[in-house]
Amino acid sequence: MTAEDVAAAVDDAALDAAVAELRRGGLVAFPTETVYGLGADASDPAAVAKVFAVKGRPADHPLIVHIAAAAELDRWAVDVPDAARALARTFWPGPLTLVLRRSEAVSAAATGNRATVGLRVPAHPVALELLRRFGGAIAAPSANRFGRVSPTTAAHVRADLGADVGVVLDGGPSDVGIESTIVDLTDDTIEVLRLGAVTVADLEAALGRPVAVAGADVAPRASGMLEAHYAPRARVVLADDGAEAAAAVRAALTAGAARVAVLAPAVLDGLPPAAVELEPAGGAEHFAAVLYDRLRQADRLDCTTLVVVPPPEDGGIGSAVRDRLRRAAADAR
Ligand code: TXA
Ligand code: MG
Repeated sequence: MTAEDVAAAVDDAALDAAVAELRRGGLVAFPTETVYGLGADASDPAAVAKVFAVKGRPADHPLIVHIAAAAELDRWAVDVPDAARALARTFWPGPLTLVLRRSEAVSAAATGNRATVGLRVPAHPVALELLRRFGGAIAAPSANRFGRVSPTTAAHVRADLGADVGVVLDGGPSDVGIESTIVDLTDDTIEVLRLGAVTVADLEAALGRPVAVAGADVAPRASGMLEAHYAPRARVVLADDGAEAAAAVRAALTAGAARVAVLAPAVLDGLPPAAVELEPAGGAEHFAAVLYDRLRQADRLDCTTLVVVPPPEDGGIGSAVRDRLRRAAADAR
């Protein structure tokens, strides 16, 4: 969306209502290029507490704090290393969250009482205009109930949170479709905590040095690292190709699944006729953009199993999509 389209997408009155809601300590759902956020004034502990209550999120899970520009880094963080400034310069506004030491301006409640804060300048004109008019920082997790699929449209937000959120700004479908890359810069080792559209190679190129990627062997510090996450109600099964997908559909039906959906990059041959084939998700970028809508679609169609052929491992957004799907598939329900 271009800046000129903002007025068309979200009018002045809606933005003013959103700012008023934030100022009175209420919640505002707003679009970003990754997923929709459920926002509160990051400096107001009572407002932040409402986010945790509405999401049903444990109070020790930190929220991402959204700011209007990289120039505000030192207002919301302290001891900002040069590497963080370099990443902010290169990737902001954009799908990258920097974990830094928190300044007193950020409510401790927003960071689960940590000494650190995850900061991000979102690349969406509506989010940026909201932040600019509000003048503060907006603490916002994805606007879904805890552990469920992140919303990528205003309709997803309304379906999930209904009357629990005062204002929902509609900025159209999110372009990227999966959550931001998270990088921890609070240590000498720069570490990626969550994969996203900004890739490890992108980060290393911008920094001119290697970065680490948090593995399964470390205690989860980001809720996105928990296994039971990003999951639809349907049981998710991963398959490598069409033949495996067909076998997985047959196995699920034999095991008594009522309805089985299939999501793949392209139309598959040889699926059992009973399979509900979702519209193909295309290449890795498009796969990311439509992934959460397709997961929700499987639920709307009352599918009890969803077989997914993910995009190939590419070290980039394809890997980020595979990461989300692996977590959805690992969900024990
Ligand atoms: O793309 C995104 O990041 C979206 C949009 C709305 O900006 N937000 C999002 O928020 O995905 P949420 O709350 O669903 O995920 C935030 C992740 C969590 O896994 C949280 O643990 C991690 O960021 N996080 C936030 N602050 C952190 C900190 N200080 N240290 C470590 N992880 C942090
Ligand atoms: Mg989330």
